[in-house]
Amino acid sequence: MKILVVGTGAREHAICKAIEGNAELYSLMSNKNPGIARISKYQIGSENDIELVKKYAIQNNIDMAVIGPEAPLEKGIVDALEAEGIGCVGPTKEAAKIETDKVFMRNLFENYKIGGSLVYRVFDNYEDISNFIDDFGEDVVIKPVGLTGGKGVKIMGEQLKDAEEAKNYSKEIIDTKMGGHAKVVIEERAIGEEFTVQAFVDGKNIAPMPAVQDHPYAFDGDEGPITGGMGSYSDKGGLLPFLDQKAYDESVKIMEETVNAINKEVGPYRGFLYGQFMLCKDGPKLIEYNARFGDPEAMNVLQLLQSNFVDICEGIVDGNLKGAKFSDKATVCKYIVPKGYPGNAVPDQIIDVDERKINEAGAEVYYAAVNEKDGKVYSSSSRALGIVSVADSIEEAEKLCENATKYVKGDVYHRRDVGTTELIQKRIKHMEELKK
Ligand code: GLY
Repeated sequence: MKILVVGTGAREHAICKAIEGNAELYSLMSNKNPGIARISKYQIGSENDIELVKKYAIQNNIDMAVIGPEAPLEKGIVDALEAEGIGCVGPTKEAAKIETDKVFMRNLFENYKIGGSLVYRVFDNYEDISNFIDDFGEDVVIKPVGLTGGKGVKIMGEQLKDAEEAKNYSKEIIDTKMGGHAKVVIEERAIGEEFTVQAFVDGKNIAPMPAVQDHPYAFDGDEGPITGGMGSYSDKGGLLPFLDQKAYDESVKIMEETVNAINKEVGPYRGFLYGQFMLCKDGPKLIEYNARFGDPEAMNVLQLLQSNFVDICEGIVDGNLKGAKFSDKATVCKYIVPKGYPGNAVPDQIIDVDERKINEAGAEVYYAAVNEKDGKVYSSSSRALGIVSVADSIEEAEKLCENATKYVKGDVYHRRDVGTTELIQKRIKHMEELKK
């Protein structure tokens, strides 16, 4: 079988590694990711150029395509490839609206009475926004309707100092059509601990994966600007130290109900579904969905996957997913990023990665937004590589992972506290205090 993986980052490197050896691997990526390049036949080009992806797939008689990022999903890459008879692991343009259209997502929750929703309103004018925020009287979250590359969501009490700033930012979203719509979604601010549950979905059946916690803030202690995610951990048993089986099961139920609702509304959802939840004092609330694997979370779960990933992908395409087995271990992933990230990194700096030493230290390397030239790895302005360790406890995996980071040299940094006992205790205490 010939499988094409679309996308360039560490998530796609992890997907390629999971396929390696079980299919003939092709990839279409926007720059030369050294990890993907060495295990696949590849074409460099924009993954958002649907015609290019289609042409490359047809030329190479691709049987199945696995789509990594959300942007090509929004452009209808799956619709285009399926029209050529190529099975896709990824939702159609309509089904991907669960991520690409936040009004669609929240309305689905309301219309199908799906649990774990938040109070929300959709606005297209300043006056109504202002009245709502004043009447609501509590902190809100302001969201553009469409995709903004993770940069559009702002929270009152964090990036937005007060109600005035929240109103002004909402107006800016409408005036500039940020995310492609002259509309804004305003939601209640959920207080708790964030976690991720991902699932394989074949249109009706879902196979959930172990829960993961990502770390969006750039610096140790959850300080600094929001990033694409600086690292993540998962625990034995598929739960998290602050997340029990009941809350996990409730989250999975929310995802099942969502998949059923999408099916009724716009047709089957096939692919990976990423649920970003907040564990609040009264249970999990859905913050948002992604119509793809998480990054870094894909690295945690794919390292643990015991079932054959290609069989799972075939099950997704054929609508007969049989479930997925994961090893009962903990994982820690730390992202190495260029200094100045996010926003001010100087690209094209050499990063020296001693993969052999990293592997000997008990960790794996997943390359992200780097470019290989003449055998050397060059940075971009985004995340460079993920280092992942698997062990019997988070503590042990963290030690292995942190130790392995010393074999990456260059103008880079990483969060040292991801997966540390101290940070995890802080999460547990936070939840305990909320539940009092
Ligand atoms: N972990 C954040 C994301 O995948 O969007």
